[in-house]
Amino acid sequence: MYKITLLPGDGIGPEVIAAAREALTALPLEWDFTECGIGYGEYQRSGSPLPDSTLQAIRNADAALFGAVTTPPNIPNYFSPVVRMRQSLDLYANLRPNRSIQHPSSRASIDMLIVRENTEGLYSGIERTEDDGNRAITERVITRKGSERILRKAFDTARQLGRKTVHVVHKANVLRQTCGLFRATALEVAKDYPDLTMQEMLVDTCAMELVRAPEQFEVIVTTNLFGDILSDEACMFVGGLGVAASGNIGADVAVFEPVHGSAPTLVGTGKANPTATFFAAAMMLDYLGEKEQAARLKTAVEACIAEGQVTPDLGGSLTTSEMTKTVIGKLGNW
Ligand code: NAI
Ligand code: MG
Repeated sequence: MYKITLLPGDGIGPEVIAAAREALTALPLEWDFTECGIGYGEYQRSGSPLPDSTLQAIRNADAALFGAVTTPPNIPNYFSPVVRMRQSLDLYANLRPNRSIQHPSSRASIDMLIVRENTEGLYSGIERTEDDGNRAITERVITRKGSERILRKAFDTARQLGRKTVHVVHKANVLRQTCGLFRATALEVAKDYPDLTMQEMLVDTCAMELVRAPEQFEVIVTTNLFGDILSDEACMFVGGLGVAASGNIGADVAVFEPVHGSAPTLVGTGKANPTATFFAAAMMLDYLGEKEQAARLKTAVEACIAEGQVTPDLGGSLTTSEMTKTVIGKLGNW
């Protein structure tokens, strides 16, 4: 029995989470699901977009599956529950797989994983202004500990996936201190993985190479802001927002989510593509050690895509719940 915290959130979040719950329930596994509040709707109900009870439920579960939240217009004291959740739970690794799908919008032969540091770097939250607001400063904090754990996560995962090369992406030629420390740590960590090749790449070169020949990458590991940008770039080669999923992993807490937001205009139309959340659920199954069920769910979703049994954003005519039923129907083909 797996204890799972579901975080539907706002907009289409509840629709895609309901779809994933249905698919997970159709697998031969026992689930104990608890739904908890997060986001703007939760703020309107309880006064906080991320109540302590929600954080506690995530900590107590085996894993969590998150939909999406809406960021409201300027409200004093409002904070982004997504960033807060990652920091409060120390979800230091953001994993973003990008795999080719059988769809005209996808390039072929891509199977890469981007491993992004999720807690420090330029998003450390240390900002100030000086000179009467005419000079703005954001501090970029990189630590040896933070670098080492994300690099080890990348190298360990590369090994588990049977990959050969890890691209360590930085800008140490200019950011000599922060990226310098990240790079030095990478050179140390790589010594423990003689079976893997570490390849350094400057972040601007990487952005260019991703567009030129994305199939060359197996695993990319990088700091927070660089990873945020490169992972959004990379997902566009393999189907885009409707299919992109990610995992936020900590020491023994994990939250999986579609990359897309709450798509407010799609609410109630049946047009929300549940694929990204299915792939997030498959990542969660992998994390739980249910490799076979993860592959089974992924295979079923990929078959739907290949047959055009998809929602309008991917050129199909199915609704969210029709696609969910089709995926569930294909779980049996395993
Ligand atoms: P969005 O990802 O919600 O939508 C971008 C575009 O993609 C829209 O055209 C939308 O209709 C489409 N789209 C997104 N998900 C889809 C799906 N599953 N199926 C079919 N089409 C889909 O980003 P946007 O519009 O910039 O933001 C909307 C709200 O979501 C904002 O309040 C934003 O702050 C929030 N947001 C939340 C995120 C999260 O919870 N992790 C991430 C990104 C945005
Ligand atoms: Mg992003």
